[in-house]
Amino acid sequence: MVSESGISSWKSPSNIAIVKYWGKHGIQLPKNPSISFTLNECTTSTQISWVKGSGKLEFVFEGKSNSTFYGKIEKYLSLLQDEMPFLVKYDLTIESSNSFPHSAGIASSASSMSALALCLVSMEEKIVGKCKDFFRRSNFLARLGSGSACRSLYGGATSWGISDLSGSSDEYAIPVDIHPIFETFHDAVVIVDAGEKSVSSRAGHNLMNGHLFASVRYDQAHANLKRTHKALVDGDIEQFGNVLEEEALTLHAMMMTSNPSYLLMRPNTISVIEKIRSFRNKTGTPIFFTLDAGPNIHILYPDSVKDTVKTFIENDLCAFAAEGRVIYDRIGKGPQKIR
Ligand code: PMV
Repeated sequence: MVSESGISSWKSPSNIAIVKYWGKHGIQLPKNPSISFTLNECTTSTQISWVKGSGKLEFVFEGKSNSTFYGKIEKYLSLLQDEMPFLVKYDLTIESSNSFPHSAGIASSASSMSALALCLVSMEEKIVGKCKDFFRRSNFLARLGSGSACRSLYGGATSWGISDLSGSSDEYAIPVDIHPIFETFHDAVVIVDAGEKSVSSRAGHNLMNGHLFASVRYDQAHANLKRTHKALVDGDIEQFGNVLEEEALTLHAMMMTSNPSYLLMRPNTISVIEKIRSFRNKTGTPIFFTLDAGPNIHILYPDSVKDTVKTFIENDLCAFAAEGRVIYDRIGKGPQKIR
């Protein structure tokens, strides 16, 4: 007999894109394939408790109600009505918290939507029965909440969107095998500005519709996905770094050349980029930067140079960070079931 009530809980990480997803169509389908590293420290923990009822929703974020997040979750759950028709027969209490401060300038949609999707699929298994591929279903559902969230469901590297990679799909992300050197990679995030972005990612994706450079950009993303995949398999750090930085700057170039145009980089973003490039040129240390849709800089480097890089960040970059804030993360193993 199906139980009248239950609980499921998952901790899921954020991810950082190497080749960026920018531009979408339909229901969260990407205009180009992307590939990312799954992170370890920046996570969201979510718990769903359910009891037979009439589809009421309560949402608690870090111990308090939060109307913005409540609205997003309500919208997401109504989008899932056809996929998960059992949901309307239960009252849900969703409790969620992030491992990183909410106002740290770190996007939380990937970790939060993937944690929520995992909890929902665990709930579905308890009510409806086992599904064929738990992680595939979770990542399909996570995608409906936030595109990049579907790339958080596996550890290491993950790719989403149809490409030359075998098994790739626009509907869900797949895990990608990488050279062991990349499994040791760190990601230190220099928080240049922790404030709310002036233009949301949703608006940014929309501005790719009719963008003068859109089709060239999508061709470039396909080519860069191939280059990145080869570098990741071969353990070619230099080639990886070249594509990483090209992708970051292209993403922001798309923003600067959209109509209307906008800028999410801050003066300190440029200063940090210049410092990284000159440090790399001077010392030969393999460190590379990337950006997501915001002003903060992710610095990627292998474990072998972690002490050198930490000293460089503390001496040369912290001065450009808001309140000197840097979040040290590394490549992780993917989500963890809590209960
Ligand atoms: O998943 P969204 O809609 O928040 O878009 C994410 C877009 C980027 O972070 C800029 C790139 C990416 O692939 O993660």
